[in-house]
Parts: sequence; C-alpha cells; structure tokens
Amino acid sequence: MTEIKETKAQRVERFKRAKNAWDCIDEIRGFARQGHNSIPPEWLGTYFRSWGIYTQGDGNGVTGGGGGEGKATPYFMVRIRIPNGILRSPQLRAVANIAEQHARGVADITVRQNIQLHWVTIESLPEVLDRLHSVGLTTTGACGDVVRNITGCPLAGLDGDEICDASPIALELTRQLAGNSEFYNLPRKFKVSVTGCHLWCSYPEINDVALTASTRRRKGVIETGFSLRVAGGLSTEPHLAVRLNAFVAPHQAVQVVRGVAEIFRESEVLRHSRERARLKFLFLNHGWTADSFLAELHQRIGFKLDPAEPEQIPEDAYRDHVGIHAQKQPGYSYVGASVLRGRITAEQLKSAAEIADHFAGGEVRTTIMQNLVLVNVRNEDAATVAKGLEASGLPVAASVFTRGTIACTGSEFCKLALTETKGFARWLVEALEDRIPGFDQQLKLHIAGCPNSCGQHWIADIGLEGKKVKVDGRMVDAYYFCVGGAVGKFAAIARPIGYRCAAVEVPDAIERLLKAFDSDRNPGENLRQFFARHSNDEIRTLLAGDWAEPVDRDAIAGPVPHGVEG
Ligand code: HEM
Ligand code: SF4
Repeated sequence: MTEIKETKAQRVERFKRAKNAWDCIDEIRGFARQGHNSIPPEWLGTYFRSWGIYTQGDGNGVTGGGGGEGKATPYFMVRIRIPNGILRSPQLRAVANIAEQHARGVADITVRQNIQLHWVTIESLPEVLDRLHSVGLTTTGACGDVVRNITGCPLAGLDGDEICDASPIALELTRQLAGNSEFYNLPRKFKVSVTGCHLWCSYPEINDVALTASTRRRKGVIETGFSLRVAGGLSTEPHLAVRLNAFVAPHQAVQVVRGVAEIFRESEVLRHSRERARLKFLFLNHGWTADSFLAELHQRIGFKLDPAEPEQIPEDAYRDHVGIHAQKQPGYSYVGASVLRGRITAEQLKSAAEIADHFAGGEVRTTIMQNLVLVNVRNEDAATVAKGLEASGLPVAASVFTRGTIACTGSEFCKLALTETKGFARWLVEALEDRIPGFDQQLKLHIAGCPNSCGQHWIADIGLEGKKVKVDGRMVDAYYFCVGGAVGKFAAIARPIGYRCAAVEVPDAIERLLKAFDSDRNPGENLRQFFARHSNDEIRTLLAGDWAEPVDRDAIAGPVPHGVEG
C-alpha cells in the first residue's frame, strides 16, 4: 500500500489541534534550560509563532537552504506587539536594554507598528519575555495563525482632524482577542485595523477586517460610527478589502470584529492549503460576496447592522507622521522622526525614551511607515525635541526618499528572502538623495525581499519585489518593478510592469523614471497620475532608458525557489 503523505497544511493543522502554545510557556522555559537542540521541530516551525517568535535565517535567505526556505540558525526573531502603536518611555527603554543585552543592539520597527528583535537565543528567551511582560509588553500573537497586532492611527486622540479617537476600541479588541484561547487556532493570520482618522493612515484596505470612522445624521444629530471592510491582504495574491453595507456603532465594534474572526475561524474550507488560507480567499476562490458575508455576520452576532452611510475616502493616503505638527490640544505638537527602513539601534531607542521623558510626558508612538513619533510636546519644546532626535540619527526634517522608503526584513534574518533589503534600502535612499536632491513629491518606495510582500510593495508608488538574476555566471540580488499602487480613494494594486534589473542598477532606473516625471509631467500632476497616464511599456522604457522587452514577474533566472509557507 502506498503511504499518503501529509500536506504542510495538514501537518500544521494537526499541530495546532494538539496544543495551544499559549498554555505552554513552561515548555519554552524547559528548552531554555536544556539548550537549542532540545527544541522539537513542531515548536520551531509552528508553536513558537504564536509567541511572536520565528526562527532566523543565516543571512542567505532561501539561497542558502532548500525546499523554498533558507537555513535556520540557532537564533530567534522576536516580535513585540504594540497595539495601536502606543508606547511609554519605560517600555521603550526596556526594549532598548533587551536589544542591547540579547539582540546585538538593534531592533526593527515594522509595518504593523511592532518592534522586532533578532539574534535572541533560546537561553535568553524566558528572560526577554519576562522583562517585556514586566513593563506591560507582550509578544503573544505577534506571529502565527492568530489575531495579529491591531493597528490604528498613532495620533488617536491627538489629531485635530480626527473623526473620533478609536484607540480604546483597538485596545479593547486587543484585550479580547490577543492571547484569547478561543482564537488560538485560526486558519492563518488575521489582521485587524481600527482608525478614527480621516486619512486612514493604518491602511484599512489591506486588513482582514477594518473599521474606519464615519458619521451620519439622525434626527438632526451627528452620530459617529464606522465603515466596515473585510478580506483585504497583500502577499502573493493581493486583494483590497471589500466594503460591507453596514454602519457599525462604536458599542457594536468589538462584537462585529469578533464575529468576523469567528467566521474566519470556522471556515474549514480555508484550512486545506496554507497559501489559500487568508479570509480573502473566501471571496477569491469560494464565491463569497459582500452580501453573503454580511448575512453570515448578522447571523453570528445576532442583530442586524444599519446600512452603510456615504463616506469620505481620503484622496491620497500618504501619511508618514514625520515632522512637527500641531495637535488638537492647544499649545501641543507631535514630533515625528523618520526611521529609515525601520532599523533602529538600542542607543537610539534610549535617546528617544530620554527625550520623551523630558518633553513628551513619556509618550511615544510607532507608525506603519516604520517611524517613531513623540507626542504631547509643548510647542515651545518642539524644536528642541526635533534637534535631539536629529542628533540621535532620527531625522525630523528628512528627504522624501528617507521618509517614503520602507523595507521588509529581507535575507539578513528572513528564511524566505531572495534579497537583502535593509542595507539595500539605505544605499538606495542615499543614492537617490545624491542624484535627485530637489525631488519634492511624496513617494512611497517599498521594498520586499520576495513576493510575500511584507514590505507592502503592492501599495507603493514604486514597489520593488526581490528576485535573483544571473550576472557573469553568478546569482545576484535583483528587483522587479511594480508601479502605481495606492490606498485611499484611488486604491489600486501596483502594476507589475515587466521590468527587472540587478539591485545595483536600481538607483539608475529610479533616477531615470523620476527625472522623466520631473521634466514631462503635466502642470499639477502627481506621481500617481503620471503613472496612470503612461502604459507599462512606456514606464518600462523610462526605467530602462531604452526599449526593453517585458519580463515575467516570477521567472527566476536560476534554480532559486521562493517559498510561501509561513
Ligand atoms: C508565507 C510567508 C509570509 C507571508 C505571506 C507574509 C506576508 C506578509 C504581509 C502581506 C505583510 C504586510 C503586513 C500588513 O501591512 O498588513 C507582512 C508583514 C510582515 N512580515 Fe511577513 N509574511 C511571511 C513571512 C514572513 C517572515 C518569514 C518574516 C521574517 C522573519 C516576515 C516578516 C514580516 C514583518 C516584520 C512584517 C511586519 C508586520 C508585523 O509587525 O506584524 N514575514 N507579512
Ligand atoms: S517579503 Fe519575503 S523576504 Fe521580506 S520579510 Fe516577507 S517573507 Fe521575508
């Protein structure tokens, strides 16, 4: 009899059914006592993730391994969950100290407002988790098939234009969903965003469920509530969230998000393939529609939501929160510093905590553009705060390239990466600053080291997706170009335009494209409009400097696999 091999999805499902890793902290403590070799594969590949812990690659991404994954090292990446990006200086200082002692002095701010550490050993894990816990931080559910960090506007409660402060809802949802055993075993990751801001800076369009504040008039009274979107996500098959015909009152918000999470949890059809397990695949592959989803949601929550109201969709959702800006509290400002590609040192974290203590009542925020914001700064102190941050290498007045560039983890630590991204991002930004010094258009330049799109290249003006190409018989890092991605009113997935070049040639290509934009644009035309007006062939020609045959996005010039398991 031939043995039927268990699929990856079946294996992961079996592991998850067998145990809820959140109940098993003692096992982690045991591994720490007995050393790395005592850790069983199911912990390395599955259970650790629920604790925000991933195995770390050896710096070669997939190229150094096999079967679509790079080699793991005996080090871990540890993701700290920062709900709504709200942090206090003692927490920031604790992260800095942990980074110094256990993570080689560096951390990354991520595109979901989290902070990620690397180089953590199994021996230090219990201490890292305990110390985070002692300052009210957790890694629970920062990775894995669970409700991930709940994002929101970092200026909630501070922004003069906001419709409402939605952060209490994001925090309540975090209390109810993160680490709650009822939701320990979802088919895959589940991303939630709640924002009360006008600009939708937390990118509702790419979340599994998102609430954005809106208003309605009832009997002459203005009421605040939320629009509801579901089933957004990027990854290899991007899908912008679908708006449901519902107006969610603030008191209904938690129940509604829980309801969506329950529908996801019980969608057995999603548990057959890891690559087709996100909520969006109910819509993409299983015939669900906005109406059928809403009907199911009504059934689940046991009451009917009011119909949707017209909403104001932000024109161009670009908001990096960098610079000095007034808050709604008279006399106060927030000061946002650009953290290029999110990479920050322990020293910089400590300086930021110090400055926050002196001038910001200890209040700090992380943003989804991988930046740090100090809030509640008295107007008269704002320049001093900016100077202090600048002196620490965290620029408040930064070029559009520094401000607009974000990068995923890349091959330095990620086993699925084809390219190194963080060093590349910095080098690219420096090159563009040198070559096009006066460029003044807001530009989202997003870099992902593989098609998984952790660097969100699908929603960038210029999105770079990591590849490998052969140059002089050697495989080297390369990037494939996607342009014209956007969120907000003109929301669109970036167009793959058939141009790919070696990483070292990327500055030349972007310089040619942006210089062409500068010289050929119509009066008042922005980058998005410029890209929309030009065909793929035209943009490819601008990037290449000459006519170039289109190349396939996923054709890899050599035997380099790219895994999509995670
Ligand atoms: C199948 C594998 C994976 C897929 C499909 C995937 C996909 C994604 C996507 C689409 C995002 C964008 C998040 C958003 O804005 O909503 C994201 C975030 C992120 N990914 Fe991945 N990812 C995978 C594996 C990994 C791995 C192995 C690493 C590195 C060890 C990684 C690191 C990150 C980081 C740092 C973020 C920022 C999000 C956060 O803080 O939660 N990803 N991922
Ligand atoms: S996009 Fe690819 S390379 Fe970058 S962190 Fe995600 S999985 Fe790793």
